[in-house]
Formats: sequence, structure tokens, C-alpha cells
Amino acid sequence: MANSLNRQQRQPNPRDGVGPQTCPLAIGPLTLADLKDVMELESVSFPSPWTLATYHSELTRNSRSRYLKVWPVAAAGATRAAAGLVAQGGFMLFGAEMHVVTLAVLPAWRGRSIGEWLLLALLALGRKEGTHTATLEVRASNEIAQRLYRRAGFASVGYRRRYYPDKEDARILALEDLHKSRVWQPLQERFALLSAMMERGVEAPG
Ligand SMILES: CC(C)(COP(=O)(O)OP(=O)(O)OC[C@H]1O[C@@H](n2cnc3c(N)ncnc32)[C@H](O)[C@@H]1OP(=O)(O)O)[C@@H](O)C(=O)NCCC(=O)NCCS
Repeated sequence: MANSLNRQQRQPNPRDGVGPQTCPLAIGPLTLADLKDVMELESVSFPSPWTLATYHSELTRNSRSRYLKVWPVAAAGATRAAAGLVAQGGFMLFGAEMHVVTLAVLPAWRGRSIGEWLLLALLALGRKEGTHTATLEVRASNEIAQRLYRRAGFASVGYRRRYYPDKEDARILALEDLHKSRVWQPLQERFALLSAMMERGVEAPG
């Protein structure tokens, strides 16, 4: 479960009992061991969630796929708390294009810039792999996600009519010239700032 930190390993925190608890977050590759948590995250985040079989195949058979997760760390110096997943996202590589296929944050952890941090981590990884352009589809009604993508520099480049199983339109967004420092530098600076913030800790859900 996402907020059941291992209490035996948890170190005393001087802030304990004094206002909201903060929780440092880490980011790294998604693995097969995470898939149970991914299913929970999918079911509360998307009207048409991907199946376990799809994720299993993505992680084991699709050499173009890259997935990252965000998880809570128990305390400074601890590696991985048995605390499950806070967020996950992924993309597929097609030559110099990365196509972001999923991005989701557990509802209780939203509004803390975790989605933005994860998106920038995906872009950083894509850029290392030679990406020039990042693309994605987003539901026309999903204004929160569209704001997040626009803040990172994505712009609308088209529509896919009745794209989703419930027939909602998709908006196609693209971020061009990711390999150019003019585009990447401000994103890199924001990523560094958010990484430092997440390492210090965000407010844990009550
Ligand atoms: C889209 C999503 C990944 C954003 O994650 P997040 O960690 O909440 O993102 P951020 O905190 O970086 O930004 C979220 C925005 O919601 C606002 N917000 C504030 N409180 C919030 C809350 N309690 N819950 C949700 N959003 C909140 C933030 O201020 C921010 O708005 P802004 O852009 O005007 O500043 C998340 O809402 C989600 O998982 N949604 C469901 C899945 C989805 O739609 N994925 C995108 C598919 S294309």
C-alpha cells in the first residue's frame, strides 16, 4: 500500500508530531515487482486502464519501452521502503521521437508537482536516448494534464477524433527540439529544483 511505511525501519524524525509529515521520494525504473501497485494506480487514474498482461509485455518484450516509478523512501539513507508506488509513467522510442504512453500519480499524492517531476524525468531519459521530439495523446477534457504538459513546453499539434474506447477525442501534443539546449536547459533547471525538493520530502497524505 502506498502510505504504509515500514514502521520498524523508520527513523525518528524531529518533525514527528509537529505539523504535517514530510516524505522523501525517489525515482527509478519500474520493474515486474511493481505491477500489482501499477494495477491499483491504473484503476484509480484511467477510465480504460491497461491490463496486467499489457504491462507485463511492455516490461519484458518491448525493447522500445521505458517506464519509471516514484516511490516513498523511509528515511535518509534508506533505500526502498515496502511502501509501494506513488506514481508511474512511460514512453516508447521511435527513432528520434519519444511517445509518452502513460503518466499517473496516486490521487492522494496529486498537486505536489510529482507529475511534473516524473514527466521531466521521462524527458531527461528520452533525451539521453537521442530524442528530438516528444509526443503524446491526452483526453480533450483532461485540463489538469494538459496544463502540466504545456508548462513543460508541449504544444497542440492536432486531434485524433473518437480516439478513446468511450469515443472521446484525443489532443496530440508535441515538444520539439528537446535535443537543443535552448529547449532543454530551462527544463533541466526545473528538474534539478524539483529533484532537490522531492529528496527533501513532500507532505505525505494524511
Ligand atoms: C495528470 C497528473 C499526472 C498530474 O499529477 P500531479 O502530481 O497532480 O501534477 P502536478 O502537481 O505537477 O500538477 C497538477 C495540477 O493540479 C493542481 N492541483 C492542486 N491540488 C491538486 C490536487 N489535490 N489534486 C490534483 N491536482 C491538484 C496543481 O496545482 C497543478 O495545477 P497547475 O498546473 O495549475 O499548477 C494526475 O492528475 C493524474 O494522475 N491524473 C490521472 C491520470 C492522467 O490523467 N494522466 C495523464 C494522461 S495524458
